[in-house]
Amino acid sequence: MNDDTDANRQTGAKVRILVWDLPVRLFHWTLLGLMIALYVSAELLDDAITLHATLGLTVLALVIFRLIWGVAGSTYARFGQFVRGPGAVLRYSRSLFDRRPDLEAGHNPLGGWMVLVLLALTLVQAGLGLFSNDDVLFEGPLAGMVSKSTSDLVTGLHRELFDVLLVLVGLHVAAVVWHKLFKGENLVIPMFTGYKELPAEARASAMRGGSLRLAVALLAVCLGLVFWLLA
Ligand code: HEM
Repeated sequence: MNDDTDANRQTGAKVRILVWDLPVRLFHWTLLGLMIALYVSAELLDDAITLHATLGLTVLALVIFRLIWGVAGSTYARFGQFVRGPGAVLRYSRSLFDRRPDLEAGHNPLGGWMVLVLLALTLVQAGLGLFSNDDVLFEGPLAGMVSKSTSDLVTGLHRELFDVLLVLVGLHVAAVVWHKLFKGENLVIPMFTGYKELPAEARASAMRGGSLRLAVALLAVCLGLVFWLLA
């Protein structure tokens, strides 16, 4: 640690850097909206199964997009940046109760795994929906490929996994609240603006790469393929 860093720590100097690219931010808040709409269309509305299926296909396309963006996106959108080994996760876990903001610009090592789990489960959930049926008139686009009993089994799993997802989303939101209340760090505003204010000692640099044109093209391909093949 050099003199500069010590000075920054003493004065509490902060730097404002761009961390989340626009596709990541739009992806996140659209996913939240879609999850709410999926819940409402499945549980609260009558006869909304076609709407539910359309929303489900949109989620499927979005998550596939996000997985590709995890390789082709900007610095902090990349899995290679935030998926860390057990050592880093353990070290970070020990600092969970430190009453100071993290030095991580992107997802912290624990949060990174949560992101992966949320993406994977959302993908599986949307995938299961393709094989489900509602026992009346509706069948998912791939339900015809399996027997009725298998489709019934998958439908049960599709219902139960949603509850698991709800619990995980609850944990995810609880972690965000924890950061605000315990570490004095607001993670929500950066998910809207893209900018994080970090202690200067974090020595993080602004995100790079992740062309918006590429994102639009990738998203169009994902939506096009999913709806063309499965709608
Ligand atoms: C009110 C509800 C929610 C709030 C306030 C919220 C907040 C946040 C915040 C602040 C981050 C960035 C965390 C960080 O700085 O490392 C984040 C990331 C993330 N959240 Fe949420 N979230 C919510 C709901 C959801 C839901 C419903 C899902 C879907 C399953 C979800 C999935 C994700 C994913 C996948 C990421 C990683 C984003 C990326 O890298 O693409 N969140 N969320």
